[in-house]
Amino acid sequence: MRTFLTLCGVLALIGASYAFKSQKYQKPTDHVTSDWIYNGTFRTRVDHFRAQDGRFVDFVYHANLNFTGDEGPVYIYLKDAGDYTTRWIESGLMVDIARQNNGSLFTFDYRFFGTNRPTDNATFENLQFLTTEQILADLAQFVSYVKLFHDVYGGNTIVYGAGYGGTLATWARKKFPHLIDAAWSSSGIYELTVASLSVYDSLSYSIYRTRGADCRNLIQEAFEEAERLIIADDADELQELFNLCNPINTTSPNDVSSFFQNYFDLLVLYIQQQHADGVHDMCDDLEESTLPPLEAFAEFVRFALVGEECFDATYDNIIAERSNTSWNQPGTLSGSKQKSHYLKILKDVKNILGRQWHYIQCTQAGLFQVTDQWTWLPNHAELGYQAQVCINVLGPNYVFDFIRAALETLRNQYGSLYLRSSRTIFTYGEIDPKMYNGITYTDDPESVAISIPGHGRASDMSSIQATDSAELQAVKERIIELVGNFSVPFRP
Ligand SMILES: *[C@@H]1O[C@H](CO)[C@@H](O)[C@H](O)[C@H]1NC(C)=O
Ligand SMILES: *[C@@H]1O[C@H](CO)[C@@H](O)[C@H](O)[C@H]1NC(C)=O
Ligand SMILES: *[C@@H]1O[C@H](CO)[C@@H](O)[C@H](O)[C@H]1NC(C)=O
Ligand SMILES: *[C@@H]1O[C@H](CO)[C@@H](O)[C@H](O)[C@H]1NC(C)=O
Ligand SMILES: *[C@@H]1O[C@H](CO)[C@@H](O)[C@H](O)[C@H]1NC(C)=O
Ligand SMILES: *[C@@H]1O[C@H](CO)[C@@H](O)[C@H](O)[C@H]1NC(C)=O
Ligand SMILES: *[C@@H]1O[C@H](CO)[C@@H](O)[C@H](O)[C@H]1NC(C)=O
Repeated sequence: MRTFLTLCGVLALIGASYAFKSQKYQKPTDHVTSDWIYNGTFRTRVDHFRAQDGRFVDFVYHANLNFTGDEGPVYIYLKDAGDYTTRWIESGLMVDIARQNNGSLFTFDYRFFGTNRPTDNATFENLQFLTTEQILADLAQFVSYVKLFHDVYGGNTIVYGAGYGGTLATWARKKFPHLIDAAWSSSGIYELTVASLSVYDSLSYSIYRTRGADCRNLIQEAFEEAERLIIADDADELQELFNLCNPINTTSPNDVSSFFQNYFDLLVLYIQQQHADGVHDMCDDLEESTLPPLEAFAEFVRFALVGEECFDATYDNIIAERSNTSWNQPGTLSGSKQKSHYLKILKDVKNILGRQWHYIQCTQAGLFQVTDQWTWLPNHAELGYQAQVCINVLGPNYVFDFIRAALETLRNQYGSLYLRSSRTIFTYGEIDPKMYNGITYTDDPESVAISIPGHGRASDMSSIQATDSAELQAVKERIIELVGNFSVPFRP
């Protein structure tokens, strides 16, 4: 779910001098395409699965050919939802591996993301060409293209990615073993169900196992107090505490759900990105504060996570942004440089989750993060709310219940958590709240599932660094060796 901020400036921040440890987090830096990244185009079909549709479209791709050698391997980075950069073919562990193995690195934006737009607009009708199957068919087309035009025939092809990109990497290896020789999936998500209670449940466990019960309980108390303020119709207090642009309409279930879910998701993203150290920093702030839990939590959110602009959580504004079907609008941009206001540290992930991503989730991927009456957090992220968002974003021709059949089709193709895939590396972080939606075990003799203690999501994508824990470094070394082995063409 994407939350967005709008400039408000009306509300002054209180207590700006409060020294928060969490302020030390660095903003992620923008990765701009460098001069030496090669841009090209490849031709693909608008609809791969209907012979009657003869339309073709040219998609842009990017390549790092700095290390390309004779019969060297081809490494294709499959982007995560929200990634519109070329950073993972410019630097990171796979680039180090390519340097060692004379490999070539490629990536492209999926259809409908970035600049690769096969239709004139993003109406519900046109988005029918945005499916997992179509994206994977583009990939197959791309692999064939690369082998012909980049003179890398003979080398092995390995796909890699984090999150959604990791999932697609594995599915591509399963589906096209003749084109793709191996896959590395970092924090991939494989569970194919409509809704998942485990994300918010695991959030509790991640905090508990990293830090203990006190911190987890403070967060729970903070949300319970927020719930009491909603019931007491004290919208002003919440607006001030969380620096909201508009007061919450406390009698509107959608506004209330939107408010709560934003902060639930913020916590999930925070732990995914900041790992055990981030949990400790947050808990230091909460436990050392002399303020009541809700105020301490709100200060942490404002100073550490959100930044100085006011936070727009209103349901109608979120829907309005994502309902617009024109390209280059805030809700459809997803890729171009969006000079706007982001969550301080969560910018990368939040940035693009606009209309296109909603379409994928609402029509095919599902896995809505939900609460129920037994969840430790107030029960304001129910499936009914998530369905309402899909309906309001996608319009009157969309039917939520169709997603059940669509997921069954996907389960038949890929097996959900029971997927089997050979020569696949699954890595995951042990405190990632989405770990249980991924694959943590494999009995395939040529595949491995590797856990990273104390880490959230995709921490193994970067190069080996002095700041890595011993465990993380060992995992990265193992990936280097495994990918190196998978890169050697099989010669009978
Ligand atoms: C390559 O593509 C990027 C992103 O699409 C763009 O910003 C850049 O200007 C392009 N570079 C060249 C040399 O065309
Ligand atoms: C790739 O080559 C370009 C120009 O030849 C150079 O500027 C750049 O630093 C190289 N990048 C890497 C990652 O080696
Ligand atoms: C990479 O290329 C260099 C120069 O062509 C060659 O000496 C080296 O053996 C190659 N390395 C691998 C792993 O193929
Ligand atoms: C969207 O594009 C289609 C052509 O692909 C066109 O027929 C339709 O009128 C457009 N709709 C809107 C709302 O722009
Ligand atoms: C608040 O929400 C209720 C229920 O959705 C609605 O009837 C009411 O008009 C809303 N109030 C404002 C000020 O928007
Ligand atoms: C999208 O938003 C823009 C700018 O607000 C507006 O001009 C355009 O008409 C909207 N398009 C649709 C299809 O609603
Ligand atoms: C890589 O291949 C070598 C030689 O076949 C083997 O000894 C080694 O165990 C392999 N490494 C991994 C991590 O599988």
